[in-house]
Amino acid sequence: MAYPHLFQPFAIRGMTVKNRIVMAPMESHLGNADGSVSRELIAYYRERALGGTGLIIVEYTCVDGRDGFSSMAPQLRLDTPFYRTGHGNLAAAIKSGGARACVQLSHAGRQSREAVLGRQPVSSSAVPLQSFYLNAVPRALEEAEILRIVASYASAAALAVQAGYDAVMLHGAHGYLLQQFLSPLVNQRDDGWGGDSERRMRFPLEVIKAVRAAIGERPLLYRMSVSDFLEGGLTLEDSERIAPYLCEAGVDAIDISCGSLDRVDVIVEPMSVDEGWRLPMARRIREATGKPVLCAGVIRTPELAEMAVAAGDTDMISLGRALLADPLWANKARAGRPDDIRPCTSCNWCIMETGSNRGVSCAENPRCGHETDPPIDAFGAGRRAAVVGGGPGGMAAALLLDQAGFAVTLFEKRETLGGNLITSATPPGKEKLFWYHRFLLRRMAASGVDVRCGTTADAATILAIDPDAIVLASGSRPAPLMLESAGKLPVHPASAALLGDIALPPSTAECPIVIYGGGETGTETAQHLAVQGHQILLASRSDSRFLARNAEPLYRMHLLASLKAEPAIRIADRITLSGIEDDHVRLVGFDGVERAQPAAALLLAHGLVPDTRLSEALAGAGVPVMAIGDAMKVARIGEAVRDAYRTVQDLRRMVVEREAIAC
Ligand SMILES: Cc1cc2nc3c(=O)[nH]c(=O)nc-3n(C[C@H](O)[C@H](O)[C@H](O)COP(=O)(O)O)c2cc1C
Ligand code: SF4
Repeated sequence: MAYPHLFQPFAIRGMTVKNRIVMAPMESHLGNADGSVSRELIAYYRERALGGTGLIIVEYTCVDGRDGFSSMAPQLRLDTPFYRTGHGNLAAAIKSGGARACVQLSHAGRQSREAVLGRQPVSSSAVPLQSFYLNAVPRALEEAEILRIVASYASAAALAVQAGYDAVMLHGAHGYLLQQFLSPLVNQRDDGWGGDSERRMRFPLEVIKAVRAAIGERPLLYRMSVSDFLEGGLTLEDSERIAPYLCEAGVDAIDISCGSLDRVDVIVEPMSVDEGWRLPMARRIREATGKPVLCAGVIRTPELAEMAVAAGDTDMISLGRALLADPLWANKARAGRPDDIRPCTSCNWCIMETGSNRGVSCAENPRCGHETDPPIDAFGAGRRAAVVGGGPGGMAAALLLDQAGFAVTLFEKRETLGGNLITSATPPGKEKLFWYHRFLLRRMAASGVDVRCGTTADAATILAIDPDAIVLASGSRPAPLMLESAGKLPVHPASAALLGDIALPPSTAECPIVIYGGGETGTETAQHLAVQGHQILLASRSDSRFLARNAEPLYRMHLLASLKAEPAIRIADRITLSGIEDDHVRLVGFDGVERAQPAAALLLAHGLVPDTRLSEALAGAGVPVMAIGDAMKVARIGEAVRDAYRTVQDLRRMVVEREAIAC
C-alpha cells in the first residue's frame, strides 16, 4: 500500500481512527445565521468524510452564547440543547461518510468585538490585542463568571456527546480564552486564576476536569498554541512544561498549533512558509507528554505526511487548507495518486473570504463551500465551446467544459499555458503557485481539450470552430497613461518581466529599472528583479505605507519586510510619471516639482483594465459569450476560477434546467 504509516489505524482512548489523516477545524461560515447547522454545512463535511479523511474536527463552536462568540459571524453554537439536533445530523453525516466525528469547543474571550456581542468582550485581564482590527480593551472576568464559563464548556461537551460526536476538542490555541488565561502577556491577574504560571494554568485545568466529567470515556483533544511567537509570551519550553499537566487533568491528545490573532501569520501561514515547519515542535510536545499528538501547518503532500508519521514527529496529520483545495486528498493518497491531489498553495484566499464573513471557499476548488451544487455532468455532449486565454481561469473553464462533455478548443496567444499564474508564481516566496500551475497542466494534458497555443484569437478564428458557447478569459491590459511625451526608452508591462518575455538592459543605482506602480505587481516585480541583480526605483503614486495594499495581508507583511531589507530597491512614493524620454523618465513629486530620473527601462505596473475588445467584437455572434476573470473585472486567481465554475453552472442551467419544474 502507498504510504503505509499514514494509512495505519490509530486509537485515541479507545476511539479507533481508520488512518492518520485529520481534518483540522476551520470556521466555514456555512452554518445558519442563528449558529445552527445547515444543509450546506453538512454537505461540506460529508464530502470530506467521503474523501477518506479519518477524523473530522468540526470548526470552532461557541460554548457561551453570552460572551463567547468570536469576531466572526455566524459561528456555530452548542451552548443550549436547541443546537443539539443539528449537530446530531452533522455527526451522523460525517460518520456515515466513514470518518470519526469530533467538535471543537471554543470561547473567544477578548478575540471578539462589541458589535458581535452587544457588550464589552471579556478576558482573563483587561489587556487588549495588538491586532489592527481587534483592539478593544476587554473586561477582566469575575470569579463567578469564570466558574459559569467552566460549566458552559462542560455543558456543551455533554451536548456534543448526546449529539453523537466520537470525541471533543477544546480550542486552547490561537489566542482564545483558554490561551488568554495561560499567557503571561494577557493574564495579569493576581488571584486564584493568575499571578504565576501555576495559577495561570488553573482555568484550562478546571475546564478539562469539568469536560472530562461530562464526556466520560470519550476522547478529549486539546488544541494548543505551543508558542505565541510574541516577546514575553508563551514559548515552546513553557508548553513542554504545561502540556503534561493538561494530560494529567484528562486530555488524551494534543493538537499542535501556534499564535494568536496578534500573530495570525503563524496560524495560517502565508505562501513563503516552509512545509511541515511545526513538526519539530510536535515532536517535542509528544516527547514531553508521552501522549499522541496531531500536527497541522503547511502539510501538503502524502510524502511529507508519511515521513512525519514514520519518523515519530507526530501521530496524526492534521490537514486544514489542503482539504479545502481537495476533499479527496486521503483517497487519492491511498490510491497512490499524489499527483492528482489539487495542491493548496497557502495563497490564503480562503482566509480573505472568511475574513470578509463570506462562506468558506478555495481559489483552486470552486466547489468548496458549494457542495450542494449539482455535479457537473455530461450536459454539454454534442456541443462545442471556445475558450480564449490559457491563464488559470481559462484553464479551469476549459477543464470544466470538457468535464461537461463539450468539445473544447482553448486559444492562447503565448506559446505556453499559465498566464497570470506564472506572473504570480515568479516572485520570491511564491513558488508554491507553480504546484498549481503544474497540476493544471497535468489536468489539461489528460483532458480532451484542443489546446492551440501561439494563437491570437480574433472573432473570426473563434467563430470558425462554430462554438455553442464562448468563454473569454483573455485577461486585462495596462490602464491608459496620459503622458506628455513618449521617448525611445524601453517600456514594457511589469508582467512581461515576470513572465520572462523580455530581456532588460543592465541597470545601476544611478540608472535603475524604474517600476511605475506600488501595487502587488509593482512591488513583486521589484523584488524579483532585485534578486536577479538589478537596481530598482519603485515609483508609487500613493504613500509608501500603502504599498501592495490589496495583497493578502499575511503575505503582504512578509513582502513588505523583504522589500525593506533589499538594498537594491529604492522607493519613491507620492510620485506621478509625467513623461518618457530616450534615457530618462520625468516624475512629478507631491510638491508639484518635476524632475528627470535616468532610467535603463520603464516597467508599467500602474494598474490594469479588463480587455473587452473581443467581447465587443463578438457582441452580435448569436452565441452565449461569457467573460470571466480579468476580462470581466481585474481580480485574483480565486475570482477567475470561481467565474469559470459559475459560468459552467450557468450554462448547465441554460441547457438542462430550462424547465426545472413540471408543476
Ligand atoms: C478558513 C480557515 C478557518 C480556520 N478556522 C479555525 C478554527 O475554527 N479553529 C482552529 O483551531 N483553527 C482554525 N483554522 C486553522 C486551521 O485549523 C489550521 O491550523 C491552519 O490552517 C494551518 O494548517 P494548514 O496549513 O493545513 O491549513 C482555520 C484555518 C482556515 C484556513
Ligand atoms: S484558497 Fe489558497 S490557501 Fe486557501 S485552501 Fe485554497 S489554495 Fe489553499
